[in-house]
Amino acid sequence: MQTSTIQGTKMHEDRILNFSAGPAILPESVLEQLREDIWNLNGSGVGVLEHSHRGKEIDTIFEEAVANCKTLAGIEDSHEVLFLQGGASGQFAMIPMNFLHQGRTADYLVTGTWAKKAIQEAQRIGDAHCAHDGSATLFDHVPTVDEIDLSLDPAYLHYCSNNTIYGTRFDAMPLASCTKIVDMSSEMFSRPWDYTGHGLVYAGAQKNLGPAGVVLALVSKELMETARDDMPTILSYETHAKGGSRYHTPPVFPIHAMGLVFKWILAEGGLEEMERRNNAKAGLIYDVLDDCGGFYIPHSRPECRSVMNISFKTQTPELDKKFIEDAAAHGMSALKGHRSIGGMRASIYNAFPAEGCKVLADFMKEFARTNG
Ligand SMILES: Cc1ncc(COP(=O)(O)O)c(C=O)c1O
Repeated sequence: MQTSTIQGTKMHEDRILNFSAGPAILPESVLEQLREDIWNLNGSGVGVLEHSHRGKEIDTIFEEAVANCKTLAGIEDSHEVLFLQGGASGQFAMIPMNFLHQGRTADYLVTGTWAKKAIQEAQRIGDAHCAHDGSATLFDHVPTVDEIDLSLDPAYLHYCSNNTIYGTRFDAMPLASCTKIVDMSSEMFSRPWDYTGHGLVYAGAQKNLGPAGVVLALVSKELMETARDDMPTILSYETHAKGGSRYHTPPVFPIHAMGLVFKWILAEGGLEEMERRNNAKAGLIYDVLDDCGGFYIPHSRPECRSVMNISFKTQTPELDKKFIEDAAAHGMSALKGHRSIGGMRASIYNAFPAEGCKVLADFMKEFARTNG
């Protein structure tokens, strides 16, 4: 089979360019390792899907994944690394159930659809205050300090660092003296991030970290000690911390895949290198958006552009449709924008090759030339 290698990302030629927002592209070396491990894990004669979750092979998988995650995040023993289920949406409920006590208020920055779902879930449980609502400008930016209206003494501030649908992101964590909780589902480990003051960092795996079925949660031990004790056992972070993410039978396969992705990121040069590559990849596409004489309309304001999800459109829905069809004919899949904003979206996570971004950028130039 033919392969080509671009910046450490090997591409088999029987696979097309997958711009899916999630589940999304994974490093091919990880997929190849998984293919072997499904059959026979580390010479044990038993595949990873068939091992007991309490056996020594799986112990090793969990231990290495936790250790590598801590290395990537730059955290030591301050936080528990947990592998949970229920998707990032499950976290929208678990967070207030654990940390929003009666009589307290939690603040939320509503910067997109997912952040809105997070506050709506918190409002079902307690007092959640919307400290910023970006819906008036169709979530085309994340708030400046002046656009954030924090409550007096919030239990925590919840924000979403990268807005998958709108293609916006925070450059740095929002300023607040209270505990911060961040949804990093669509960009976890795509760049270095300052986790200072974060009680909880979480990400559904199926975008930048692995397959669907597991959520990564880094929960500070200090915050966990303050948790409520009136939620069902399975929804308590402490339950999962005490059980080493094995209180119940965990989804070993996606956890193993995520562990392999952590190793891949480290072997490729870590978060600084991911950031360097991601900036260069996104730059290829943003350059076309900026230099097309108005043919394309980017959704995000320039100062808060995501390098993971690039949302844009042309002048008409008909032309958008033609763009997506023509791109598919050129081997590029899943470029259709989210139904809430239409247009196009190119999701170019860590594993997406630079060569693929170049292919898209060249296609975009040609499409503008022939349809402008
Ligand atoms: C930023 C963000 N948060 C949360 C979610 C919801 O994730 P899940 O489907 O794992 O519940 C998504 C899904 O796209 C997302 O992009």
